[in-house]
Amino acid sequence: MTNNENRKLDDTDRYRPYDQYSQQYLAQLTEQTESSAFRPVYHISPQSGLLNDPNGFVYYNGQWRLFYQAFPYGPIHGLKSWEAVTSPDLIHWTHCGRALSPDTNFDQRGVYSGSALVTESGLHLFYTGNSADENQKRLSCQMHALMDKNGKFIKDPGPIISGPPAGYTAHFRDPQVFRYDQGYRMIIGGQRQNGEGAILIYRSYDLRKWDFAGELDFTDSKMGYMIECPNLVWLDGRPLLICCPQGLSQNTLAYKNNYPNVMLVGDKYIDETNSLASDGLWQNFDEGFEYYAAQAINAADGRTLVVGWIGLPDVETPTRTEGWAHCLSLVCELRWQDGTVYRYPAVECQSLRGQRYDFNSQPADGLAFIKLPDDCYELEVYLPPEARGELSLAGLIVRLDIPLGQISVDRSMVAGTCDPLVDTSRTVKTKAGAKTCLNIFIDRSVFEIFINYGEKSITGRFFPAQGQGEVTWKGNCEILGAIWEISAD
Ligand code: FRU
Repeated sequence: MTNNENRKLDDTDRYRPYDQYSQQYLAQLTEQTESSAFRPVYHISPQSGLLNDPNGFVYYNGQWRLFYQAFPYGPIHGLKSWEAVTSPDLIHWTHCGRALSPDTNFDQRGVYSGSALVTESGLHLFYTGNSADENQKRLSCQMHALMDKNGKFIKDPGPIISGPPAGYTAHFRDPQVFRYDQGYRMIIGGQRQNGEGAILIYRSYDLRKWDFAGELDFTDSKMGYMIECPNLVWLDGRPLLICCPQGLSQNTLAYKNNYPNVMLVGDKYIDETNSLASDGLWQNFDEGFEYYAAQAINAADGRTLVVGWIGLPDVETPTRTEGWAHCLSLVCELRWQDGTVYRYPAVECQSLRGQRYDFNSQPADGLAFIKLPDDCYELEVYLPPEARGELSLAGLIVRLDIPLGQISVDRSMVAGTCDPLVDTSRTVKTKAGAKTCLNIFIDRSVFEIFINYGEKSITGRFFPAQGQGEVTWKGNCEILGAIWEISAD
């Protein structure tokens, strides 16, 4: 593309090959993205264009590696590739460029989501190849690539699974591979021919030849019309299923986002019957406005870690006009505690903490008690059992009624919001009349709020007018806590 490149990208650009965009256009878009006041400082965000699902999260050769779904040429869901980032510590990430390009017949309409696995032969990536037949009908297959000694990913010449098994549609994507017994299992999100969501399971001994074992049997509820991004991980010996069932009935689980990201804690996984025994109780993985496509792993160091996309399909953000969209969450650790799943930033995130300001008895006068030079900080607040009131963070209101056990986040007062059709507040239930602790991470246009060290979380985006790194408290009692500035380095 040349002169026309700056016009709004639309559907006709969606599958345009990358080599048709000029270097100059990409450089402009990158510059525009870099100068955005909303660009997060310590969350992974794209260098240009759109980011969605986290993919291939793994520890390999002394580094954490993470990839994400990317369309670098504009803030739309265009032709997807995998972009790579690496980190020594889960918090400082370096962009390493494109890892997988849509450059074969099997993925000419996108290198879709997937996972990574380390074996004695090296670092393997598994992903969905999205393509179309001559009538533009969707085709999906599962692909494999192996890292060579120069760090380049070499794709197998053809798919490892060429298409969905009989009885399922081409909505067949997002493979997660894990070791099981003497071999490997792969679970894939799918759709039955009758339009219902399902998860399919395959088995292999060599990571190349995969046999269809059947559907994963995990619930009696209907799982909407398609399940995206399934993950099966182990948490303190229990199987934990995390997935995104699109069109899930509100009778199965109440949720407020257009597409939910949910979890189910199992008692056990029975491989012979491909089943997950559980009490059948679904929960939202996060209670906030935008959180999707969580990728969880059983890390080599024994922790169960997870990272999510702070975005949703079909939801736009105001940064669209700045050439970029969306970001990833902090990497969190999952823990099983008091019969529930806790999600809290990995311990490494504490080293993000810079200059500290304590407030020991903050009067509830509604006056700003902290004004920070930048809008990047972590706020820790201890709330006594009687606390009622509201914290305001640059217009983002956190309303607290601890005697009632209710915490809401309201973003209706912030100038820029995401899709206006999305509801402006979210409420979670906590233990009524119990001392409560909040850890709130603000990163310019990102908030991640953790209640009681991860018992509940509320994640989302907000787009405040600039220079508002200030916090106020108005309520029935004094509060105490600390704020740490967070800087880019
Ligand atoms: C989820 C998803 C996946 C797919 C990818 C494409 O957000 O739709 O199912 O693999 O995004 O970018």
